[in-house]
Amino acid sequence: MKVTVILFLTITLISQGYSGSLSCKRRCGESYDPMNDCHCDSECQQNKDCCKDYKKQCGRRGTNSLCIHFPSQALTNVSDEEIKAVSETLYKLDHNRATASELVIDSQTLISSSQTGSKVDHSPSPLFKQVSSTLLAKPTFKALLNLLDNYNRMTGQAEDVPALEEQEQDAFLQATMVDTDVGKELYKFLNSKGVYSSQSEFVQDLKMMWFGLYSRANGQQDSSAFEHTFSGEIKNGKVSGFHNWVQFYLKEKEGLLNYYSHSFNGPWTSFPDVLGMQFEWDGYFKEVGSAFIGSSPEFDLAMYSLCYITRPGQRCYVSLGGQSLGIQTYTWDNSSYGDGKKFIGSAYPATP
Ligand SMILES: *[C@@H]1O[C@H](CO)[C@@H](O)[C@H](O)[C@H]1NC(C)=O
Ligand SMILES: *[C@@H]1O[C@H](CO)[C@@H](O)[C@H](O)[C@H]1NC(C)=O
Repeated sequence: MKVTVILFLTITLISQGYSGSLSCKRRCGESYDPMNDCHCDSECQQNKDCCKDYKKQCGRRGTNSLCIHFPSQALTNVSDEEIKAVSETLYKLDHNRATASELVIDSQTLISSSQTGSKVDHSPSPLFKQVSSTLLAKPTFKALLNLLDNYNRMTGQAEDVPALEEQEQDAFLQATMVDTDVGKELYKFLNSKGVYSSQSEFVQDLKMMWFGLYSRANGQQDSSAFEHTFSGEIKNGKVSGFHNWVQFYLKEKEGLLNYYSHSFNGPWTSFPDVLGMQFEWDGYFKEVGSAFIGSSPEFDLAMYSLCYITRPGQRCYVSLGGQSLGIQTYTWDNSSYGDGKKFIGSAYPATP
């Protein structure tokens, strides 16, 4: 009986959910992740870094884990093994990723995860030592570069999307999801699972999921999954999102980004690798910005979309060259598109 009541309560709580990163909805009992703006782990009260609604969402007992990793719309007919298998295939098909001669990074100082908030520049040199112009001239990179300058990074200020920018979105989706083996494979997989019945439906849904505007602040249409994840935003005086290495490289080259250190370095010895980085972006600090390094744009988009579609709002485990990696996504629950579908709130490689 008690169990039934608790279960009912849980489902009620989370089904009303708004899981913006300033709320604990659907995050109670999650493990501590310094990437988040506020926290819902069992130690947040002790550490005084809980989200404002922690007590309301996570209950008086504080340490319970009422709504831990509750699947919002997870595809139950896709197994963890299938996610691992398809991610391995996507990894092998990423022909556009950087080779060792096309990209040279200088990761310099590794700090411990307890030091990530200290805002100390431990690295005198830039992170990106050399990036080949041939790599950035590949069609999917060019399509990404065209998009990255479209955004106002401040939340609370509306984005406007002129026709040219919408064409750039379409061109990016065409280049990455229709014209590459990575995109074709992702579609094939999702189609086999009955998620999409045609490639145009797939592309259209990705367009809404990634580029559909929503409001993070002031009721303004100031944000989208793409802006947050690939381009980065400023929210409450901090860098929010920013999980793409090409954007990191561009801002560093412009002299607008100062690399401080990294607190995570993935086990890969060729690209893509994963780093969790500390940096300052034109006046604002990022405590842990994790990203694939040296991946192609289609690879980032495919990995995040795969995890968001199959394990929305959860930790999704992929396998890349035999190594396991968690990818965390968040659903944006304050507004929706189509038939009540949710936008992506965020997506990034989870750093332990
Ligand atoms: C898999 O699950 C989704 C969502 O529940 C459903 O739409 C789809 O038809 C299922 N696919 C198969 C092959 O059973
Ligand atoms: C949620 O959406 C409404 C209307 O779109 C907006 O007024 C409100 O500010 C939003 N809330 C948050 C927390 O973004």
